[in-house]
Amino acid sequence: MKYSLLICVFLVSCAVNADIPCAARVVKSNFIVCVCNSTYCDSITVDKPDSGNYVTYTSSEGGLRFEKSQGTLDNYNHSSTCCSVTLDIDVNTKYQTIEGFGGAVTDSAAMNWKSLSETTQQFLIDSYFGASGIEYNMIRVPIGGTDFSTHPYAYNEIPENDAKLSNFSLTFEDYEFKIPLIKKAFEASKSPIHLIATTWSPPPWMKTNRAYTGVSHLKTEFYQTYADYHYKFLEKYAEVGVPIWAITTTNEPISGALGVNAFNTLGWTASAMGKWISENLGPTIRNSTFKNLKILVADDQRIVLPYYFNIMLNEHPNALQYIDGIAVHYYSDFITPAIILTEVNKNYPHIFIIATEACEGSFKWERERVSFGSWQRGRNYINDIIEDLNHNVVGWMDWNICLNQQGGPTWAENNVDSPILVNAVKDEFYKQPMFYAMGHFSKFIPRGSRRIKVTEKKFVFEKSVENVAFLTPYNTIVVVMYNDGYEKTVRIKFQDKQAVIKMTKKSITTIIFPNSAN
Ligand SMILES: *[C@@H]1O[C@H](CO)[C@@H](O)[C@H](O)[C@H]1NC(C)=O
Ligand SMILES: *[C@@H]1O[C@H](CO)[C@@H](O)[C@H](O)[C@H]1NC(C)=O
Ligand SMILES: *[C@@H]1O[C@H](CO)[C@@H](O)[C@H](O)[C@H]1NC(C)=O
Ligand SMILES: *[C@@H]1O[C@H](CO)[C@@H](O)[C@H](O)[C@H]1NC(C)=O
Repeated sequence: MKYSLLICVFLVSCAVNADIPCAARVVKSNFIVCVCNSTYCDSITVDKPDSGNYVTYTSSEGGLRFEKSQGTLDNYNHSSTCCSVTLDIDVNTKYQTIEGFGGAVTDSAAMNWKSLSETTQQFLIDSYFGASGIEYNMIRVPIGGTDFSTHPYAYNEIPENDAKLSNFSLTFEDYEFKIPLIKKAFEASKSPIHLIATTWSPPPWMKTNRAYTGVSHLKTEFYQTYADYHYKFLEKYAEVGVPIWAITTTNEPISGALGVNAFNTLGWTASAMGKWISENLGPTIRNSTFKNLKILVADDQRIVLPYYFNIMLNEHPNALQYIDGIAVHYYSDFITPAIILTEVNKNYPHIFIIATEACEGSFKWERERVSFGSWQRGRNYINDIIEDLNHNVVGWMDWNICLNQQGGPTWAENNVDSPILVNAVKDEFYKQPMFYAMGHFSKFIPRGSRRIKVTEKKFVFEKSVENVAFLTPYNTIVVVMYNDGYEKTVRIKFQDKQAVIKMTKKSITTIIFPNSAN
């Protein structure tokens, strides 16, 4: 804020909240990516509309990126035939409170970031975390290595069978890559960034198969050691000035039990997990200086939640007192109805659900790991985020915040796509549609926003406009809507007012207006 004022004083042509447009590069003849380098990067600011007015931001398959426009709320005209779809906003019916949006700072993400020049690095940080960017307020950070590292590793690998973890120390990857990126994000962000930390695999000596991958379980003699392993990580990160907000109880525990993933895993049955939480992890954390840490369970596909959570709590009901939230991943969503989330929520209303990992291009049958400029992949994010938010999810996190143009590096050859691709040779990075998809939510729905009710009214054969609406702590209404069909006109009805918005085909619009229409 101070800086932008300062810059304004010295620049001749200084418009208030002037946004820097996307430097579009056309790829595959009909898609675009926005190119950032050491001297140029597109930016986006939020205008708070005055009473009676609204502001919209639109991105589209056709090439719009956060295209801003303004309008006035008219009196609601019941007889008007303006629109094939009406979204009726009910600010008095409130649902979950939003925690935030973000992505993962893996070793690979942070190494790609570090491969850019310092000025380009800063543009990448600002793009994600700054007031001129999409204002992420959450980061997921791995505890040790993942598939998105250049080699498999964990902390305290030697000495082996070291139950007291006498040699626990952070690694080169923490000091050189992840921690510097996270600290830059802290500087850029105007709201506190909440970090979620997750272990993929502990050192092999704690595991039944003595390896990073494959079918494995924690050896029972190391249950307390694995709890202490988390405690020590929290301590080390706190020492370097990076407080952790939450941990999950191991990444994708089911896949580790079945051996389906060819990268760092640890398998857990639901029952063993319940035992570990209630006898080791829970007491260790709640009796420590980190007693307010959030403990998130599952951290796995939506499809396993009912099975996993019910068995865990049936066999170890004491675990419940330690659990703050349930973390869900994206990859089975296309076969699993979101109603599962609402069911879990109904049975355990005090436990929140948060989406902790998503990426495109991860399936074996997908020919393209990176699909440069794909609108469809951005659209997949939008669809999933709207669905999750409408089923009481409190936040949504992407996987690697950036990768190289091959979707790596990854020691396990598990290349995938990312919203930002880095080209170290040219000192450039490319913002894909997935970046703008995330931004249409993360930028405009601050922490503390409450989801509110929307009722859609439309002609019978008209395709729905996907939508979700919020009341923000700034007393504004934010509605995010996606039109997957042809151009159509959508009416937003709020109290006795309306905004009539033309949506081009395959476009996403975020609209903001004050919570008092008059
Ligand atoms: C950076 O991008 C801008 C806009 O596309 C371009 O004008 C400029 O020449 C580029 N600078 C460098 C150093 O490549
Ligand atoms: C309401 O809409 C109808 C049909 O579009 C139009 O004829 C009428 O003038 C409008 N009334 C007002 C008060 O704007
Ligand atoms: C402690 O770990 C480091 C690697 O982080 C290793 O070089 C060293 O030998 C280990 N010390 C012992 C006593 O095993
Ligand atoms: C803290 O530790 C004490 C002693 O080991 C134990 O009795 C107590 O149950 C623990 N408290 C929590 C909240 O787990």
